[in-house]
Amino acid sequence: MTKRSSRNKTITVTESEIRLLEKRLLSVHSCLDETDVIDKTILGDALEVIDYLPRCFADMLFVDPPYNMSKVFGKASFKRMASGDYESWVRSWFSRILSKLKPNASIYVCGDWRSSSPLFRVLSDYVNVRNRITWEREKGRGAKANWKNASEDIWFATVSDEYCFNVEAVKLKKKVIAPYRHDNGKPKDWSEETNGNFRLTHPSNLWTDLTVPFWSMSENTGHPTQKPEKLVAKIILASSRPGDIILDPFLGSGTTSTVAKKLGRHFVGIEIDRHYACLAEKRIEIAALDKRIQGYDDGVFWERNLNPDASKKIEKKPQRRQLL
Ligand SMILES: C[S@@+](CC[C@H](N)C(=O)[O-])C[C@H]1O[C@@H](n2cnc3c(N)ncnc32)[C@H](O)[C@@H]1O
Repeated sequence: MTKRSSRNKTITVTESEIRLLEKRLLSVHSCLDETDVIDKTILGDALEVIDYLPRCFADMLFVDPPYNMSKVFGKASFKRMASGDYESWVRSWFSRILSKLKPNASIYVCGDWRSSSPLFRVLSDYVNVRNRITWEREKGRGAKANWKNASEDIWFATVSDEYCFNVEAVKLKKKVIAPYRHDNGKPKDWSEETNGNFRLTHPSNLWTDLTVPFWSMSENTGHPTQKPEKLVAKIILASSRPGDIILDPFLGSGTTSTVAKKLGRHFVGIEIDRHYACLAEKRIEIAALDKRIQGYDDGVFWERNLNPDASKKIEKKPQRRQLL
């Protein structure tokens, strides 16, 4: 076995940790109340579990389903289908999950370029599609006879016309390129700080400030399609309030539940793979002690690799207590 670098912060679970963590997982065989599922990771097939969830309990839905490509997820795998079959597969669970959402709930569904159109067709049949966020995914393999895939989409929809959107909570802190001043010399819409000139800007539907987790980041796990915590944090802060319940039926390594915990929201996650479900539980436990989210400091989102104070804060970080 090759020795792990001391800078490698990847979160892993050992077999003995799994034996302890899996005791926290919920198995579902009959209908559940909100108190049964709140702040829980459910181990099971979302397509079966959905029907047992309580009605009208979730304030926000975040869905990061297997995209329409062949991919191995732990012990299971997803096989690429014809686009119409993928659309039917999405419809088979999306149509049933709707009754679990509150009338003012917001919905976010992730996809790549191939999955995005079927996802849009299903969503627009059931809910109000409001926007498509495209985010730059700078990690990825180059292609010999095609453009390298370097972006993904997230559809934003709402159940009704009544929904929350906290724009102030998701402003982006950017370096000022043109530092215009008023006649009296005061900065126009920007501020002079010790580390430079910055402006808080309205968040657009094009996100270029994200870093896909990699081994030296403390949020990294071995999950093949883990989403950045910063991405999920933007969505949760914009579209939920403290104390709200966030549902994620394809939880993976637990990013949604972890970020919900860090931001004072409740969560319910479903994951079919036992190893990933335990990884999620471990991350949720860490989140109870360490609420930092890389790229989100002092209540603002920073442009990629920009916050000049962030590295100092990491050095000051308290030691993580031994888990379990
Ligand atoms: C795209 S990944 C989600 C990644 C996640 N957002 C994260 O940040 O780690 C999809 C996840 O869905 C899980 N999955 C696939 N089919 C499932 C099913 N029928 N029920 C529950 N989970 C499923 C896979 O094991 C995989 O971990």
